[in-house]
Amino acid sequence: MSNLIPVHPLEKRWIYVVLGVIALFLGAIFYTALVHQVHPPGAIETIDSATLHLGGEFAEDKLGVRTDADGHLRATLVAARYGFYPREIRVPEGLPITFRIASADVLHGMHVPMTNLDTMVVPGYVSTVTTTFPKPGEYPMLCNEYCGMGHDHMWSKVIVVSRESWKAAAPQTGR
Ligand code: CUA
Repeated sequence: MSNLIPVHPLEKRWIYVVLGVIALFLGAIFYTALVHQVHPPGAIETIDSATLHLGGEFAEDKLGVRTDADGHLRATLVAARYGFYPREIRVPEGLPITFRIASADVLHGMHVPMTNLDTMVVPGYVSTVTTTFPKPGEYPMLCNEYCGMGHDHMWSKVIVVSRESWKAAAPQTGR
């Protein structure tokens, strides 16, 4: 704002207000990304939705919660009209777990309220989200993208168990 173009004081005040609002929005984005790990689902990874159930990572016997070779927990799920498969998963509290989910038919959403698990499940793509469940309990996993007549019946259950009971139950694979 040079002296060559005089800016009316009222206009100047609103310029500061607008800059303040932009700073607030950017701050909110960085805060949720860095503190609450809210960001868009992982790398763009494609998959053939028509054949994903026939073999590989999303075959029926491979679904569920597993511990990878490096000790990291992974939940592999398929979203299809009208449910998430498996219909119920058991996970430990307080340990990071990476969800990998793909659609076998149309667009779905995966949402677990009060967590950062909230992603579109677009046919042809694998959605990846990592989260940590802070306390034991039962959480609903809901579809939040309209996917057909049964959309409002499309939900499954996430059972978060204490770390002790998770450790007590062995082996920690294929559940
Ligand atoms: Cu699946 Cu709505």
